[in-house]
Amino acid sequence: MELKDLLLNLKIIMFGGKGGVGKTSCAASSAIWAAEHGRNTLIISTDPAHSLGDSLGVELPPGVPTPIEDINNLTGLEINPKANVAEFRGLTEMNPLEEMGMGDMMEGMPLLGDLEDLTSSNPPGIDEALAFGKILEFIETEHDYDLVIFDTAPTGHTLRFLGLPETLSGWIGKLIKMRMRIGKMFGAFKRMFSREEKKSDNSLEVLERLNQSIINARDDLSNPVKNSFIIVMIPEEMAILETGRLLNELIKYDIPVSNIVVNQLYQRTTELCDFCKGRREMQQKNLSNIKKIFQDKLNKILIEIPLFKEEIREYDKLKEMGEFLIG
Ligand SMILES: Nc1ncnc2c1ncn2[C@@H]1O[C@H](COP(=O)(O)OP(=O)(O)OP(=O)(O)O)[C@@H](O)[C@H]1O
Ligand SMILES: [Mg+2]
Repeated sequence: MELKDLLLNLKIIMFGGKGGVGKTSCAASSAIWAAEHGRNTLIISTDPAHSLGDSLGVELPPGVPTPIEDINNLTGLEINPKANVAEFRGLTEMNPLEEMGMGDMMEGMPLLGDLEDLTSSNPPGIDEALAFGKILEFIETEHDYDLVIFDTAPTGHTLRFLGLPETLSGWIGKLIKMRMRIGKMFGAFKRMFSREEKKSDNSLEVLERLNQSIINARDDLSNPVKNSFIIVMIPEEMAILETGRLLNELIKYDIPVSNIVVNQLYQRTTELCDFCKGRREMQQKNLSNIKKIFQDKLNKILIEIPLFKEEIREYDKLKEMGEFLIG
């Protein structure tokens, strides 16, 4: 499917690729186009080094979905990877003995030893995992937005992020089992010893909800009717190698890819200086390889975008980029 059709029909579109190639610009430009074509669109930056607000020319307070002024139907969100931990208190406050003032009893108990292990070793970067939990709300299709566009971090980080459902579901499955065992064991104790009503413990519920979200998110991400990953690259040999590796990883995670953006192409003009001529020749050689590999062999749709004289920022420039990106 062409990018235009993806923007009109899918639920999730992710932009990814090497550092500095134009992911944020392409994501922002696409989001404006989709919003202006009537889709209630949320654009989310998952890159801890956010630049989405800068690109759109607006202030995006961390972690708060913010309607973009002057563009109907468009909301922006820069994920705050740290602040979310508080929303998952049930995950971090999981010790019923401590709650009952009987923390000393933990010593020497094999079951609780396990729990300590799990919580102290901070499995797969707990802050990243919880940030992911937050994003899951928007990957699942139960929300107010027609389309969620992800502006992702450079390749390595994004792949870790996409692999999180697998890592997390193992980890959470373990926590749920343990939480149930602890809950059963100490439920009776709790009733015997605590006089006042304890604040309700929602940890099991939180875990189960998170686990279900992960399973749903995995399904949605691998469904070509719901999600597509757009790779953004520049016409250089290193970018070709990295795009090949990225494609392999996306296949491994079962994430559909149909379009590849080749950005920052030097155009043929009469007044090219020697330096620009050299750059253009290098790019054209690589572009022809990109066509052979990704278009002819792998059947991807290539989208070519010229190198602009100016920086691509804010509404007018993002719209101009959109003419090449979407048509
Ligand atoms: N086709 C283009 N012509 C001119 N400048 C461009 C083009 N595409 C992107 N840029 C500029 O290149 C810079 C990097 O673009 P952008 O922030 O979109 O890349 P990115 O892949 O998101 O980077 P990062 O990996 O740091 O998140 C920006 O200053 C942007 O304005
Ligand atoms: Mg970016």
